[in-house]
Amino acid sequence: MTTSTIEQGISIDLIDTPCLLVDMNLVEKNLNKLFSRFRESNVRVRPHLKTVKSPEFAKMLLNAGAAGVCVAKVSEAEVMAEAGIEDILITTEMIGRPKLERLTKLIAAHRQVKVVIDSTVGAHAMQEAAKDAGLKLNVLIELNVGQNRAGVEPGESALNLANEISKQPNLSLIGVQGYEGHLQLLTDESERKRLCAEAMEKLMSTVSLLRKNGHKIDVITTGGTGTSEYCVAGGANEVQPGSFVFMDGAYNRAIGNRYENALTLVATVISKPAANRCVIDAGFKSLSTDSGNAELKSHPNITYRPAGDEHGILESTSGPLSLKIGDRVELIPSHIDTTVNLHDYYYCHRDGKIEHIWQLTARGKVQ
Ligand SMILES: Cc1ncc(COP(=O)(O)O)c(C=O)c1O
Repeated sequence: MTTSTIEQGISIDLIDTPCLLVDMNLVEKNLNKLFSRFRESNVRVRPHLKTVKSPEFAKMLLNAGAAGVCVAKVSEAEVMAEAGIEDILITTEMIGRPKLERLTKLIAAHRQVKVVIDSTVGAHAMQEAAKDAGLKLNVLIELNVGQNRAGVEPGESALNLANEISKQPNLSLIGVQGYEGHLQLLTDESERKRLCAEAMEKLMSTVSLLRKNGHKIDVITTGGTGTSEYCVAGGANEVQPGSFVFMDGAYNRAIGNRYENALTLVATVISKPAANRCVIDAGFKSLSTDSGNAELKSHPNITYRPAGDEHGILESTSGPLSLKIGDRVELIPSHIDTTVNLHDYYYCHRDGKIEHIWQLTARGKVQ
């Protein structure tokens, strides 16, 4: 069956492979778990859509209680805004004329889109673009709280940047973003908690400094699936987790089974050249490997490794394989964001029956 001929209610066994299979019962369980953690506090949950890359899942998150969403790129923001999602934070610096023109065009139609800045060069370019478009843009300062990726240094450097932003008539500083991405996958939970407290100390002491100098910092946003609770304990009033919706192998290793593996890749055994080895129709083009190889669900004694773009090898570590040609297997991706980006559709099911086929309209949006 091809995607266009699949009907609601058919068995998941009739879908062609390789494909992304999403268990909606488990997604709902993950959403309930995460949102109930933050419901009691005054913290806003602004999930990062770099995981789901789909307006339908974004709307599910908003219905579950999300206050808004994050995206990494302006092209992703365009997809979400087009689908009717208004409150969007773009978490990556917007640099270069083509990007800024695209951004101001988007914001002219969707005023709740906001962006981060980490340099005076970025602030001046943003000011020019906003002035040309006749807009006032809401911006957040991105701080480096230890990941050593983007972000201005906390303390005086951040204050200098805040002072410079406040001189720009078409920019309005509304908050700060820190992101402790280096801590998300730390397997030692007490170490993750301790280092996150240190990162939050950098964030909050800078917030105090900025406020003391007259800057109105309403939004303190940060946090991923592995750290959001600790960020809130440290003073953040908004969290940005993304991976919790589907989970993946890397997060399983780091935080255990706090959330369910709601997404698997289904593949078919297409060849069995040896008793302990078979070949499936899923290689580099179906499963990302930046966080290692995917794992076969429910078969701890069978390993998976890619064997080219379209082939993967399953090998038994304990004698002959019971799998035969034509059998279907489910794999848990090692890194959900980069795996999802390889596919066009989600095949969403409940109890083995297809409920939706949702297109990944924000996949491949790198600009
Ligand atoms: C700025 C930012 N916020 C939040 C997240 C979400 O993190 P996770 O998917 O680990 O929950 C990411 C992920 O890379 C990120 O880059």
